[in-house]
Amino acid sequence: MKEMTGKAAAEALVTSGMKLGLGTGSTAIHTVRHIGFLQREGKLKGIRAVPTSFQTVIECEKWGIPLYTLNSREIGGTLDLTIDGADEVDGRNYCVKGGGGALLLEKIVAYASVAYAIVADETKLVEQLGHSFPVPIEVVPEARLPAIQALERLGAVVTLREAVRKAGPVITEHGNLLLDIRFSSPVDPAVLEGELNRIPGVVENGFFTRLRPRVFIGHADGTLKIRE
Ligand code: 5RP
Repeated sequence: MKEMTGKAAAEALVTSGMKLGLGTGSTAIHTVRHIGFLQREGKLKGIRAVPTSFQTVIECEKWGIPLYTLNSREIGGTLDLTIDGADEVDGRNYCVKGGGGALLLEKIVAYASVAYAIVADETKLVEQLGHSFPVPIEVVPEARLPAIQALERLGAVVTLREAVRKAGPVITEHGNLLLDIRFSSPVDPAVLEGELNRIPGVVENGFFTRLRPRVFIGHADGTLKIRE
């Protein structure tokens, strides 16, 4: 499902000369690989990419996809298109992202893009965001405890994300911690996206509600649906 969906978005949306934001995760990585493959075949030329994580950087390097930052002169602060994965997608195409810990650059890149597409399998479709999959909050290390307390006052259950195969917490690409939060009662993701960032020390949160992505959804029966 992931491979089919990631490839389909690259085939449908990416054209030569584009300035691209490239997402993170086990679905978006197939988009990156397919762009690399099309480039290698000579079917895509002049791609300039802005990666959203070390994972994406490494994959782009393997495929020879030219990398820039949003601040590079060749990019000039805006992108034609970003393709990324998601942890949850609701009926309005609002998303929760950051399961791979890359939400900060993922959001900066997404919000600097003219067009935005999500690649996800059907297991990501939900009615209510923030219930089953936790919403990640990137917080500077010094603000850990007051941020946890502020999030609890908003009704969230908060867990500090722990690393696997390293003792202690996950450290993001930007040297911060991740707090994974869950709500037991319904929340308004569009309000919370702004509200959470008002907590001192919070750098960004995993609600993505200000974009209207085209969502490519892979189904277990091998079919693909595209939701505008
Ligand atoms: C990383 C992300 C990913 O896009 C999200 O976690 C989905 O990943 P996957 O396709 O592996 O399920 O937001 O920060």
